[in-house]
Amino acid sequence: MAGDDVAQTFLKLLGSLDYPVFIVTAADEERREGCIIGFATQTSFDPPRFLAGLSRANRTFRFAAEVDALAVHLVPEGAEWLVELFGGETGDEIDKFERCAWTRGPRGLPILDDCPTWFAGEIRSRMDLGDHVGHLLDPFEAHYVPGPFERFQQVKDVEPGHPA
Ligand SMILES: Cc1cc2nc3c(=O)[nH]c(=O)nc-3n(C[C@H](O)[C@H](O)[C@H](O)COP(=O)(O)O)c2cc1C
Repeated sequence: MAGDDVAQTFLKLLGSLDYPVFIVTAADEERREGCIIGFATQTSFDPPRFLAGLSRANRTFRFAAEVDALAVHLVPEGAEWLVELFGGETGDEIDKFERCAWTRGPRGLPILDDCPTWFAGEIRSRMDLGDHVGHLLDPFEAHYVPGPFERFQQVKDVEPGHPA
């Protein structure tokens, strides 16, 4: 099988799956950034750990290099507008946080008022994953309100603000 065929079938196979999407946010004293991610997974029970994949193309990735913690939100079902805002727009062009309600949480992280299920994690390490960089997170605060939550198959038609 030719390399191109493998890549094409691989992408088709994975594109047919369903999984949650998350909104990752970050902040320093002056700025806030955030974007939708689907490349994300729990990696360990004990210690609890989570891997958040950020595309090198994204403003959120560039900003995340300057901070030591990220907030990771689940998006309640029905809040597609938040997926459009954080996945379809880029902070290179607009301030997403002027268009949604948020509160300063632990370590000043921007917590989205419409996403009551979230955790905050310290960036323990960063790893080259290809065109995405994995951010291994140690959670230090977590809040859970039962779903349902937005999933990839419901929002896959949103055009990313930055091509990966
Ligand atoms: C369904 C969906 C899944 C996405 N998954 C990821 C992802 O795993 N990692 C990532 O960095 N960007 C992902 N994106 C793309 C970013 O959310 C998008 O390019 C965003 O506009 C970047 O904003 P920024 O430039 O302000 O960071 C996804 C977008 C959508 C719609």
